[in-house]
Amino acid sequence: MSQIEMIDLSKSYNKQKNVLDKVDLFIEEGEFFVLVGPSGSGKSTLLRMIAGLEEITSGTLKMNDQIVNHLPPKDRNLSMVFQNYALYPHLSVEQNILFGLNAKKVDKQEQKRRLLETAEMMGISELLKRKPKELSGGQRQRVALARSVVSEAPLCLMDEPLSNLDAKLRSQMRLEIRRLQKKLGMTMIYVTHDQVEAMTMGDRIMVLNDGKIQQIGKPITLYNEPANLFVASFIGSPKMNMGKAVFHADLNQLVIEETIHLDIDAVTYEIPSDSNVTIGIRPEHLYPGTLNNTSHEIEVINVEQLGNDTLIVFGVGKEIWTAKWPGQWDVQVGEKIPIHIAIENLSFFNSDTGLLIKPATTSKQHEVVTA
Ligand SMILES: Nc1ncnc2c1ncn2[C@@H]1O[C@H](COP(=O)(O)OP(=O)(O)O)[C@@H](O)[C@H]1O
Ligand SMILES: [Mg+2]
Repeated sequence: MSQIEMIDLSKSYNKQKNVLDKVDLFIEEGEFFVLVGPSGSGKSTLLRMIAGLEEITSGTLKMNDQIVNHLPPKDRNLSMVFQNYALYPHLSVEQNILFGLNAKKVDKQEQKRRLLETAEMMGISELLKRKPKELSGGQRQRVALARSVVSEAPLCLMDEPLSNLDAKLRSQMRLEIRRLQKKLGMTMIYVTHDQVEAMTMGDRIMVLNDGKIQQIGKPITLYNEPANLFVASFIGSPKMNMGKAVFHADLNQLVIEETIHLDIDAVTYEIPSDSNVTIGIRPEHLYPGTLNNTSHEIEVINVEQLGNDTLIVFGVGKEIWTAKWPGQWDVQVGEKIPIHIAIENLSFFNSDTGLLIKPATTSKQHEVVTA
């Protein structure tokens, strides 16, 4: 069993400002937990504190209900994979993988069993006799993963393990790591600055900014109900479109960036009464307009043809917005086109605090019918 609890965990280097500020968190056994945030937000520091490689300034760290603040790393029963995983260049793949087990004096027979099983799982059985310099980046990455998996520790910490790989290999490895974690039933704490990785891999995600927890939750919850403007713009790509919004109760109109006037049926739709409001709308919710609905004419400033989607970029007041339309659309830069905006798709935030006031009312488009 391997559950982890943090209570008011803080860290400061040289008694300066906290790089981690009162982190409160509970990670369940067998959970794939992703720590995501921009560079410098404190992700590696937190991971290293869990590993015991970094001193805890204040607060409590528990593993399986035991306080482990001062437990040496070797006694924490965990494995770790770093971004710049170093393999020993003079050792073969096999020797690299077994290095830790040898140090722990694990029985040779047992070593052999774990080696073959892990190599098979990671698809590197053919490479065991090679030296690291005879491997591609992706193969080296797998060896580094195998070295951590072979320890069969119930807790695995990974710090941006895929950031040195190209996009195709990255998405393949995402899948493999996820499968491996499920298969072995280990608890995973996975650090990344990549919100796609966070969305696709995590059972739950924690968004960190400037050493402070912004939100913890399931990926889809963070996407649909971001707790604040930071999470709203960090999760999702292209990012959520934002704009200042003022509600004119006398006209029943919401005016966005002094440009877009939305007629509101205020009887059925309640507009938050806060005075200083920022709205957000996802690119896929800015629909192609038609003459029959309440559309807003915009001038296209850029078009990106992605093949499966078309991104249409336009200005709204001081803001630059992106609409994402499924399929291929023949739209030209400089063209004026209608865009449909539905009030239900707006998220409302308090501009002063950044906090979410009211999320968009999303509804699942497709439900899988099972017999
Ligand atoms: N050994 C150190 N001494 C002083 N400051 C440090 C040290 N390590 C990290 N920091 C600072 O702590 C903050 C968080 O760093 P880090 O945890 O590496 O962020 P991330 O992994 O999210 O990019 C940064 O501002 C960084 O400069
Ligand atoms: Mg880091």
